[in-house]
Amino acid sequence: MLYLAQVHKNDFLDQHQLRLLARQEADNLWAIIPEEAFILLGKVKIMSENLLVLVELSPTGDIERLEDAANWVLHLVQSYLTIGITPEFLQHEAERAEHWRQSLTLQNQDLARRSLELEARREQIQALEESLKRDKNGVTVWFTGLSGAGKTTICEFVEKQLRIHGYKVEVLDGDAVRQNLCKGLGFSKEDRQENIRRIGFVAHLLARNNVIVLVSAISPYREIREQVRQSIPSFIEVYVNASLEVCEQRDVKGLYKKARSGEIKHFIGIDDPYEIPLRPEVECKTNQESVAESATKVLEKLKELGYIVARVNNL
Ligand code: ADX
Repeated sequence: MLYLAQVHKNDFLDQHQLRLLARQEADNLWAIIPEEAFILLGKVKIMSENLLVLVELSPTGDIERLEDAANWVLHLVQSYLTIGITPEFLQHEAERAEHWRQSLTLQNQDLARRSLELEARREQIQALEESLKRDKNGVTVWFTGLSGAGKTTICEFVEKQLRIHGYKVEVLDGDAVRQNLCKGLGFSKEDRQENIRRIGFVAHLLARNNVIVLVSAISPYREIREQVRQSIPSFIEVYVNASLEVCEQRDVKGLYKKARSGEIKHFIGIDDPYEIPLRPEVECKTNQESVAESATKVLEKLKELGYIVARVNNL
C-alpha cells in the first residue's frame, strides 16, 4: 500500500520513523493505493513541498487502475499545492477514495468467485480423468429384498453419487425390466428364475464393459442368486432388509393389500417365500438407517473392493 502522510518538509524522519508515523496517522491518511502505482508516482516526491510518500504492503491491481490511482494522487498533490486543503476538498477526495476502494473490493470478489469456479471445474476434470484411467471397474451390485424394502430408492441414491463422480452406471430395475427385456414373464418360481437369469446376463455384458451395474430385483430364491453370482466375475450382493411388517405398512404400491385380499397371487412374503441372503457383502437395514446411510454402506464397499476411488462419498 502507498500511504500519503502530511508532514513538514524540514522534518527529518528516517524510514523506520516514517512507517511508525504512517501507522499513527492511519486515521488521517489521505489515500491508500497499491505499491505498483508508486512507480507511476515518481513525480510526487519532487513536486510536493510537504508531502511524504510511504510504501507498505502490496496488493495486486491491473494497470488501468494503477494509472487511475497514480493520476488521482498527482491531482491530489497538485490541488494541495495550489489551493491548500479545505474540508470540502478532503471530503470530496475521501469519497473518491471510498469509491475506488469499493471497486477494488468488487474486483477482488469477482476474482474469488472465478477462482472457486475454476477449482470446481478442476475437480470435475480430475474425476473424469480418473474414471478414464480405470479400465477395470465393471461390477454388478445386486440389491435383493422384499417388495417395498427400499431397493430402488437406495439404488437411485448410489446411482446419482456414482454419476456425479463420472462413473458409467446402469440400473436394471425389476419393475422396468419386466416392461421390456422380461416382458411376458409372470411371478411363478420358473418365471422369476428366468427374470433373474436374463437380468444377470445383461448385467454381465455391461459389467465386462466397465459399467457399474445396479440391479434392483426381489430375487427371492437363494439358489438363483448364487447361480448369478457364479456366472458374473464381479458380484456384490446387497441385502435390503426390512421386515415384512414394515414393508406391508409402507405398501408403496398397494400390492400387499391386494396380495392379502387374494387379488394377486404368488406375492413374495405373503404367499411365496423370500430366502434371506446368508452372506451378503452389504446389509442395509432400511427401517433403522436413512437412505443416505444405506447408500454410503454400498459406496464404502465399492471403495473397499477397489471399484471406485476413495474420493467418492455420500454428499
Ligand atoms: S423378482 O422376484 O422376479 O425378482 P422383480 O423384482 O422382477 O421380482 O419384480 C418386482 C416387482 O414386480 C414388484 O416391485 C412388484 O411391483 C411386482 N410384483 C412382484 N410380485 C408380484 C406378484 N406376485 N404379482 C404381481 N406383481 C408382482
